[in-house]
Amino acid sequence: MLAIMGAMDEEIELLLEGLQGREDLTRPGVTLYRGTLDGVPVLLTQSGIGKVNAAMTATYLLQEGATRVIFTGVAGGVHPDLRVGDIVVSSDLVQHDVDVTALNYAPGTIPGEASSWAADEALRTVALEAAGEIEGVQVLEGRVASGDQFIASKEGVRRLRETFGAACAEMEGAAVAQVCAKAGVPFVVIRSVSDTADHDAQVDYRTFMPRVARHAKQVVRGMLARL
Ligand code: ADE
Repeated sequence: MLAIMGAMDEEIELLLEGLQGREDLTRPGVTLYRGTLDGVPVLLTQSGIGKVNAAMTATYLLQEGATRVIFTGVAGGVHPDLRVGDIVVSSDLVQHDVDVTALNYAPGTIPGEASSWAADEALRTVALEAAGEIEGVQVLEGRVASGDQFIASKEGVRRLRETFGAACAEMEGAAVAQVCAKAGVPFVVIRSVSDTADHDAQVDYRTFMPRVARHAKQVVRGMLARL
């Protein structure tokens, strides 16, 4: 079964409105919604913000039988070409806030774990096709950097670009990636850019987030038509 996750209300409510035959599955800290979206059986859920919520919710989804996972939402643009409203499809994901460099591990590397997690090739292709249908937005395939931090400075952007080669910054994707990779379940992260993670990020985020969240939703529906 296909699972669709988002972190916040705005990212999930547009999809929840279209869910047919909805059944609510209550789990500690989160509710999973089972039903049919555009004729496709899905599990839909709002994880809450941050890597812990994302990992916990991804685990529940896998226990419930998810065989593919799409994470959708907004992000701060880090690649210099990205503008508000543009879309990033994950090539791979890193956890930029992991720091075991004192023990000689590369920035972002958890000892004993991969240093990045590659998104599924087939889901990426479908996401890129669906995103390409949205007019007036640039679509970029690139590395998604996740951490329990809202990035809002030029220095923060520079670090993510120079250390990790990140295209965008968000707070959940790589946690979902880590859980899915352990289970061998394919996943992809689709993010629309709500801000450019610099000193205007807080204001831009509040202004544009509800608007650009629609783009991510459109990509998911475009993917459903192709899956
Ligand atoms: N989500 C949207 N904008 C973000 C930012 N600037 N940093 C982290 N997560 C975000």
